[in-house]
Amino acid sequence: MTTTALRPRTPTRTRRDWWIPASLLALTFVPAAAGAARLVDLSSGRTAENARFFDLPLPILVHIFGATTFCLLGAFQFMPSFRRRRPGWHRWSGRILVPAGLAGALSGMWMAAFGDLPVYDNTALMWFRLLFGSIMVVGLVLGLVAIRRRDVRTHQRWMARAYAVAQGAGTQALVLGPMVFFVGQPSGTLKASGMAFAWVLNLVVAEWLVRRSQARQPRRRV
Ligand code: HEM
Repeated sequence: MTTTALRPRTPTRTRRDWWIPASLLALTFVPAAAGAARLVDLSSGRTAENARFFDLPLPILVHIFGATTFCLLGAFQFMPSFRRRRPGWHRWSGRILVPAGLAGALSGMWMAAFGDLPVYDNTALMWFRLLFGSIMVVGLVLGLVAIRRRDVRTHQRWMARAYAVAQGAGTQALVLGPMVFFVGQPSGTLKASGMAFAWVLNLVVAEWLVRRSQARQPRRRV
């Protein structure tokens, strides 16, 4: 997010930039591991707990592969020194990221709209999933349109918003995970509020970071 063309391109700066993908990858760890665990579970056959995924098998597979690829690969798009040293890599991985992100978001919305409501979820959470999934889709499309017009700032803002929504899965694990120990498995309104809170928090932090970084950048074209 922070393109610092005015600052010296020192190895120290590059080393310091690694905290950005490292923390984003750490945030993706729980949902990515949950995805791998769910794939192993589905390969072992149908149970009462996973029956809803067998009833609608395509979206869960698309969702796990699309969303995980988007979060893992996307983590490196926000590292200024890496992006500067490998602009070709930024473009090529962007061509994978946009379809992966769209597939992850649309399949998540598909499951929310057409899948059976899981026992711990309520209708509010279904609507939150449709709302934030739509924000992610709109963000990716507007980010893509902006870069095709060579409008770097608008591209950065919309891509940061789309990525913030996707990383909601990681923040939700941090928000809801501890509740399992203190109040048991969260469900209903508590779960829906925790999930929405994580999405809003990510969007606020992303907005603040991208605007702060752009305030420090000189205006430039790609
Ligand atoms: C726009 C963002 C997202 C939306 C709207 C969304 C929506 C959904 C929905 C509706 C389900 C099915 C829930 C159920 O039936 O229990 C689901 C499951 C899942 N999602 Fe997402 N998701 C999003 C982002 C992500 C991301 C970014 C990841 C991973 C990096 C992810 C990983 C998973 C996994 C692993 C499952 C399966 C959970 C299980 O095994 O019970 N999701 N998601």
